[in-house]
Amino acid sequence: MDGKINLALIYGSTREGRFCDRIVNWAVSEISGRSDFALDLIDPATFDLPTQHGRKESAGLADLTRRIGKADAFIVVTPEYNHGYPAALKFLIDSVSGPWQAKPVAFVSYGGISGGLRAVEQLRQVFAELHAVTIRDSVSFVDPWGKFDTDGRLLDPDAPRKAMATLLARLRWWAVGLRNARKVAPYGEIAA
Ligand SMILES: Cc1cc2nc3c(=O)[nH]c(=O)nc-3n(C[C@H](O)[C@H](O)[C@H](O)COP(=O)(O)O)c2cc1C
Repeated sequence: MDGKINLALIYGSTREGRFCDRIVNWAVSEISGRSDFALDLIDPATFDLPTQHGRKESAGLADLTRRIGKADAFIVVTPEYNHGYPAALKFLIDSVSGPWQAKPVAFVSYGGISGGLRAVEQLRQVFAELHAVTIRDSVSFVDPWGKFDTDGRLLDPDAPRKAMATLLARLRWWAVGLRNARKVAPYGEIAA
């Protein structure tokens, strides 16, 4: 149906020694076996972005803008920092505007008792302002630290796998629909 979905998976943490790598690696292992998604990993730790918004163009910003623009759909992998999400993720999101529009965003989160869901709920508000569509279904890891073996595999993978399959199915539905809709009528041309 309508070719591969260009799916950008975005790291939420840039912290040294971040647990985010483990969660991202798991998500990638769930997605990479599927032929209907082409995956791009976007890591704010590797982008040479300007330190202040609007100060100047940079190769890193141009690269980020191009890759967000190319994507049909996003998965944001976020931890919870003080009941919100990391500042580095906000800076990355705010660095680009139009390329987020009329595209779906899903979340994989992790943390203590809330499994990162308080961060996710805040991100829904942010992406609404960017005219992006957030997907109800998410994957949430409560206290994930002891839940992986030394090779990074989940010890009890069934429930997260099922949740990820639902997330991907719904994300794909929106990605195909919105990609077709953007072709018929470019979203940026709609009168405010
Ligand atoms: C600044 C900071 C604030 C945190 N606040 C929360 C919090 O509000 N809720 C929570 O569940 N975990 C919180 N944690 C714990 C994180 O969930 C945990 O450190 C996690 O591994 C962070 O993800 P990362 O290692 O990928 O950066 C916080 C961690 C940091 C560094």
